Amino acid sequence: MSLETVTTIAGLRERLKPARQAGKSVGLVPTMGYLHRGHATLVDHARADTDVVVTSIFVNPLQFGPNEDFARYPRDLDADCRLLAAHGADIVFAPSVEEMYPRPIATHIEVESLSARLEGERRPGHFRGVATVVGKLFNIVQPNRAYFGEKDYQQLQVIRRMVADLSFPLEIVGVPTVRDKDGVALSSRNVYLSPVERAAAPVLSRSLAAAAEAIDGGAVDPLDIEAVIRRALAAEPMAEPDLVAVTAADTLEPVDPKVPPPAIALMIAVRIGRTRLIDQRVVAVP
Ligand code: PAF
Repeated sequence: MSLETVTTIAGLRERLKPARQAGKSVGLVPTMGYLHRGHATLVDHARADTDVVVTSIFVNPLQFGPNEDFARYPRDLDADCRLLAAHGADIVFAPSVEEMYPRPIATHIEVESLSARLEGERRPGHFRGVATVVGKLFNIVQPNRAYFGEKDYQQLQVIRRMVADLSFPLEIVGVPTVRDKDGVALSSRNVYLSPVERAAAPVLSRSLAAAAEAIDGGAVDPLDIEAVIRRALAAEPMAEPDLVAVTAADTLEPVDPKVPPPAIALMIAVRIGRTRLIDQRVVAVP
């Protein structure tokens, strides 16, 4: 089947009706476009698991703060469609902002507490915008499975919690972060980096590797682990840490060194020039 582009909610529902009636499973890969190998990996997982693969491309204004990069967020629908066709997606759902939000939205999904901490503290309203659009996409597409990258680790936990709390009838599949050869996590925002900034970016994954080594070596005190990350980041003068978080991997609660969790999530956000990059790693506690 070749890739089909659908831009309306009614059109998508109509298009999916026969598949659903035939008992076919639907996989959804929600994205904001400007797709890279990381997104392609999500599509590959969906292709392997489900009969009909839908990728949504929608730069969601609700999840951008007033001083964030909504207007300049990179967009290239033609290139995205080529990548999706090459990876066997069936449908690209690319609605306009007017189609998704014909009037200012009055109904939001707020995953309390999880959304307010860490990245949510720095980006107020961000996870509310994510949860609202993802909930809306789930209602529009009604997928059996939806695929998200682990790179946005807190986002993945927020979505898992929303699905559990509101009994959305689908499975959330988290897919490990895809990296360039030098360890830099793939992100649509990497395009903002100048060559010099791009050369500095591997410091994020290096700092996480140093922390993973410390945990493997027996470190469980979050202050010690955070210090390892900050020390590694300080070795790169262009890197300005904005968030360094060491939490229990499943709850994102602070780590109690006396009762260490089975796995620790390391989450960082670092500014390099004007670009804010994020990265994460989950490390099993030995
Ligand atoms: O991770 C993203 O690209 C976005 O936050 C998502 C999940 C597509 C919601 O807009």
